[in-house]
Amino acid sequence: MAQNRTFTMIKPDATADGHTGAIIKLIEEAGFRIVALKKTLLTKELAGKFYAVHAERPFYNDLCAYMSSGPIVPIILEKDNAVADFRKLIGATNPANAEEGTIRKLFAKSMEANAIHGSDSDENAEIESNFFFAQTEQY
Ligand code: GTP
Ligand code: MG
Repeated sequence: MAQNRTFTMIKPDATADGHTGAIIKLIEEAGFRIVALKKTLLTKELAGKFYAVHAERPFYNDLCAYMSSGPIVPIILEKDNAVADFRKLIGATNPANAEEGTIRKLFAKSMEANAIHGSDSDENAEIESNFFFAQTEQY
């Protein structure tokens, strides 16, 4: 399959616990190339925009509060079959269901504080990448 891109974000629980480097190492070892990367802080309003698709879900307010509670590390990644392979690497949303060796199995604390985000489609990967990075920041 042709090289394509996905978007990820190391979440506040994982950056606070000092797991940023370990997570990036696992991502690179799995064959993903870093296209763009930074450390930043979401306001609650920006978190709400990013997760607007979940606006009607009961956990939406908690999710926006959590995602703005500390720094995050948004990253654009490139690899063949990037979206599906990355979802496999991070594991299930609920770490209790995540497979051994996945990033969430290793680092997630709960269903909400689950260490990392991964785009669920090529289309959303592009939208989410452009939410954080200008084209001139993507190499
Ligand atoms: P992302 O990669 O972060 O998008 O996770 P996902 O695709 O595995 O899950 P989904 O898009 O359904 O949910 C987005 C995020 O909302 C999850 O990663 C969790 O942080 C949070 N979340 C999902 N379900 C629940 C829930 O039932 N309760 C709480 N508190 N948070 C949830
Ligand atoms: Mg999702």
